[in-house]
Amino acid sequence: MAAAQARQRGGNADEVSVTAEHGVRLEVDGEIATITLDRPEKRNAQTFATWSALARIGESLPEQVRVVVVKGEGPSFSAGIDLRMFTPEGVPGQGSFSSAATSVDATFEQRISQAQAGFLWLRRPEIVSIAAVQGYAIGAGFQLALSCDLRIVADDVSFCMKEPALGLVPDLTGTKPLVELVGLAKAIDICLTARTVHADEAMRIGLAEQVVARGDLDQAVRDKVAELLAVNRDAAIATKRLLQGAQGRSLEEQCAAERIEQAARIKALFA
Ligand code: CAA
Repeated sequence: MAAAQARQRGGNADEVSVTAEHGVRLEVDGEIATITLDRPEKRNAQTFATWSALARIGESLPEQVRVVVVKGEGPSFSAGIDLRMFTPEGVPGQGSFSSAATSVDATFEQRISQAQAGFLWLRRPEIVSIAAVQGYAIGAGFQLALSCDLRIVADDVSFCMKEPALGLVPDLTGTKPLVELVGLAKAIDICLTARTVHADEAMRIGLAEQVVARGDLDQAVRDKVAELLAVNRDAAIATKRLLQGAQGRSLEEQCAAERIEQAARIKALFA
């Protein structure tokens, strides 16, 4: 019954059950998909299985989805990678950093690449992704928030790029958006001190679009989703494509890209 309902709404019921095993819940309601990290008792710690589940959601996201909300159940968005990875035993069925250290470089890099796939799709022009962040967003948690287009945060948010403090680098697609959002100097400050960025600073430096009281987070996200869905879908996709490409183009190239997109819009609307 639940499976049939999910399919009717355009969701993929099989995927919902697969991802649930990995602490990730997917709900699709028409044009809105909500991904919930769902291991609150472990502060939504993430594993390679979490990232595979995210990648699979991206691969089979129903076409009608326009907005993807990424949230964490419980007091915190996500405490980052599951610390069992640092133990010799590792995460059951998923190995450990000790076992990875003995694999050939290309094999582990391939594994990281698969993990990154769980984050990369959130930038697609066809969707707008919103991270709803409360409590701690550490390491992989911070990077998951950075992989979304927008961050709406609760006033108790604590962002921390802990990887360098643990001898690692942030490798889950977070370094580029961090630099783009806050600038190189601030990104160096945040990462190389592994310090915590709280709500006021997050808002000031451009890490968050909106800070709200903890109890208002869900409503603030719902309001933003409604605003986003009120805009013409194809125009939104084309505009996101333009904005995403802007940094890599000269002004002349960007103007040319605007002309091409606009000509296509005019044709679609008035031909
Ligand atoms: N992995 C596994 N379990 C974790 C976890 C993690 N990252 N973070 C928290 N937990 C578990 C705790 O062990 C505890 O479990 P038990 O109840 O079974 O003892 C439970 O979650 C609750 O934890 P706390 O009582 O500590 O919860 P809190 O709300 O008081 O504190 C916290 C939250 C500040 C996030 C704290 O738990 C913490 O510091 N966690 C570790 C954060 C961390 O170092 N993460 C790694 C980031 S680096 C990274 O992510 C690397 C990468 O991508 C490659």
